[in-house]
Amino acid sequence: MRNRQATQLISELSHAGRRAAEFPRSDVPDWPLEDLIPTEFQATSMPKLPELAEPDVVRHFVNLSTLNMSVDTHFYPLGSCTMKYNPKRHERLSRLPGIVDIHPHQTAGNIQGMLELLYKMQQMLAEISGLPAVSLQPAAGAHGELTALFVAAAYFRDRGEHRTKVIFPASAHGTNPASAAMAGFECIELKGTVSKPGEDPSKSGFVDLEELKRHVDDKTAVFMVTNPNTLGLFEKEIAAAAKIVHDAGGLVYIDGANMNAIMGITRPGDFGGDMMHYNVHKTFTGPHGAGGPGSGPICVRDFLADYLPGPIINQRETDSNETRYELVIPPKTIGRVRSFFGNVGILVRGYCYLRTLGADGVRSAAEMAILNANYLKELLADVLPSAHGKHCLHEFVASAEKLAKERGITAMDIAKRLLDFGFHPPTVYFPLVVPHAMMFEPTETESKATLDAFSDAIHKIVAEESDLLHSAPHSAPVSRPEEVKATRTPVLTWPIGT
Ligand SMILES: Cc1ncc(COP(=O)(O)O)c(C=O)c1O
Repeated sequence: MRNRQATQLISELSHAGRRAAEFPRSDVPDWPLEDLIPTEFQATSMPKLPELAEPDVVRHFVNLSTLNMSVDTHFYPLGSCTMKYNPKRHERLSRLPGIVDIHPHQTAGNIQGMLELLYKMQQMLAEISGLPAVSLQPAAGAHGELTALFVAAAYFRDRGEHRTKVIFPASAHGTNPASAAMAGFECIELKGTVSKPGEDPSKSGFVDLEELKRHVDDKTAVFMVTNPNTLGLFEKEIAAAAKIVHDAGGLVYIDGANMNAIMGITRPGDFGGDMMHYNVHKTFTGPHGAGGPGSGPICVRDFLADYLPGPIINQRETDSNETRYELVIPPKTIGRVRSFFGNVGILVRGYCYLRTLGADGVRSAAEMAILNANYLKELLADVLPSAHGKHCLHEFVASAEKLAKERGITAMDIAKRLLDFGFHPPTVYFPLVVPHAMMFEPTETESKATLDAFSDAIHKIVAEESDLLHSAPHSAPVSRPEEVKATRTPVLTWPIGT
């Protein structure tokens, strides 16, 4: 249950004259202020700051911190976001002095240890993706998409080909068309397969090859596809789809946001992908949520390697048989997309994760994620059925449509009420192809007991009076920010989506 006390603003807690412990004034003469700050920038009066005793300040901020939900405090099955537990060991390792005390402006000769780590990370990402050339630069998944599309554009420009279209399924994450549009392409949306009533539902929710064929032509630059897709289903015809695109001279981009389901099992490079991004912060653990921090390295086939943003870390043997790591800028690079080597803090955590699990561990993490998602899918099937697929991979998209039609209970009502039960809601109303969508991704780090408790909560919630649900959450300091027009409390928006 969250703490209601923390909803007062710090200025409302202020009492004139209250202070924390004060040290005696220093007897070292002050540096003249005007030497430090030009007079035009000096304030003429002091801002009115809240006046509080030290315990008031500490309590205020500690209480505020308890208002948030995080993986460390709550089950967080936010679909598409892979909110798995982030091991604390990685935090400790990523703060070792040899890692945090170096500066990216040091020469390569001077940061060989860090470069070795990043080189090995490149190697592992190449191995898991089946795509040999890696740039660690992009700072998140969407940034990786944009970077890869710039790479594709540079490649086609070099070949003298004027390709203008990027095609993606209707179930795509919003960042796919956004990246394509930002990179200057025309966005083409494909309808997915739909099983008619009475037909096998497991055929529904995939890329429709006939529809793809209708759109692919010599203007097609890239087909962007998430696999497993945002319905949590593996695109079984991905190789056939890739062939259609390749035959027309286009490239296939695999959105790797859902790698948690396939890492160590199958590889984008093996099922037809030419480029992909990872969301290291999701798949390989990095404390993310509410917008950051992220890391979205891209992997590409050899023929695209020259266009990657650098620096790329290379390994070489010296004449005296020493291994050295050096920074290389690819010859036709699209230029940097981020400063230095990318978001190194997250890459280090991802490196720790991969080294801890090893090849077998990575595969079993994916298998456990799939098992957990299927278990939860079955537990919820009687109240929140999934429209697509008999079995899912790491996540599934259920629909609250029946509840909405029969009892007026919406996906948002259930999501909000879950907060009262101490659970973070799933992603709601995404993907857009499912009406009243509720997208659950439990991840592999949750126990059966947690999944059972979550299912119990959902069953209790859907049995409740609908009025109680419409006004939920009841334990949060702010109920539904978008519906509370005039509130004296700060507007807190809980993340509700990917
Ligand atoms: C399928 C998919 N693609 C792309 C992205 C974008 O990734 P990021 O949030 O790291 O920019 C997401 C994010 O949730 C996603 O779920």
